[in-house]
Amino acid sequence: MQNIETIKKFIEDELENDEAKLETRIILEKVLNINSSEIITKAKTPVTQQQIQKIKDIIKLRNDKKIPLAYILEEAHFLDLKLFINSDVLVPRPETELLVDLILQEIKKRKIRQPTILDIGTGSGCIAIALKKAIPSATAYASDISKASLQIASINAEKYNLDINFILGDYLDPFLGHLKSPIAVPIIRAEPPYFDIAVSNPPYISEEDYQKLEAELFHEPKHALVGFPYEHLKKQLEGLIKENGFFAFEFGFGQKEKLQKIFSEAKFYQDLAGLDRIGLVESSYLKKDGNS
Ligand SMILES: C[S@@+](CC[C@H](N)C(=O)[O-])C[C@H]1O[C@@H](n2cnc3c(N)ncnc32)[C@H](O)[C@@H]1O
Repeated sequence: MQNIETIKKFIEDELENDEAKLETRIILEKVLNINSSEIITKAKTPVTQQQIQKIKDIIKLRNDKKIPLAYILEEAHFLDLKLFINSDVLVPRPETELLVDLILQEIKKRKIRQPTILDIGTGSGCIAIALKKAIPSATAYASDISKASLQIASINAEKYNLDINFILGDYLDPFLGHLKSPIAVPIIRAEPPYFDIAVSNPPYISEEDYQKLEAELFHEPKHALVGFPYEHLKKQLEGLIKENGFFAFEFGFGQKEKLQKIFSEAKFYQDLAGLDRIGLVESSYLKKDGNS
């Protein structure tokens, strides 16, 4: 009879990807409904035939179709959150956790109380949800052009009982009066600047590079991957961020130089592999008629 220890070894051996150890843990936690320490402390606990079959089905989808594990399990881990996801939204990435950490540090350092935050291109809602959960007094807005993604982000916000204003629209259009959709309502009625912090992990892969991506990434929505809207965001953000506030953004490997040209005063931060992946610009740089 199979127990947790033997099935763990089976999964590790069967999975055909570089993250086999990590994915084995995630599969065991999900299918057996246990936590990571129980994988060790309950090593001799038997696993049912039904659970084994479920695990085999997951491995098959993962190996044969290269579907990201998070889509198969409909769950993604992001910081201390477990988010519902499907292929309508990008799988949240570890670099984006660093973006959230940086923002939280900056908010603390700058002593911004009750910040108003905008997450542009929210996808699963991971950034807005993590920030609102860490700072309950914040007012949070999260926008996306994809209705399906806003539905998922809303499910996730509800799961954590967080009040976030989700807005459908093209980047900052809903805040600039270019309303294209009846669902996008101009819920901010005061005069700008509206936000203490704007954040975005926008699509940043070129069409050319998209064609060369590994099979797994083709399961993710193309509109979440292909683009490079930083110049547009810079223009649209002008005059919208309050003094002492900032705009923080994620970008792709090798794009720092291009971004330095767009945001000449940006500070850059590296990911765990030492690669520049995050930028931050001060609100003073995004003043109306400032640096465009
Ligand atoms: C790289 S994904 C990031 C998702 C999520 N914030 C994260 O970090 O996992 C980019 C997101 O931007 C959204 N997006 C793409 N084009 C957009 C546009 N024109 N206006 C608003 N959002 C857009 C996509 O739908 C997608 O959810």
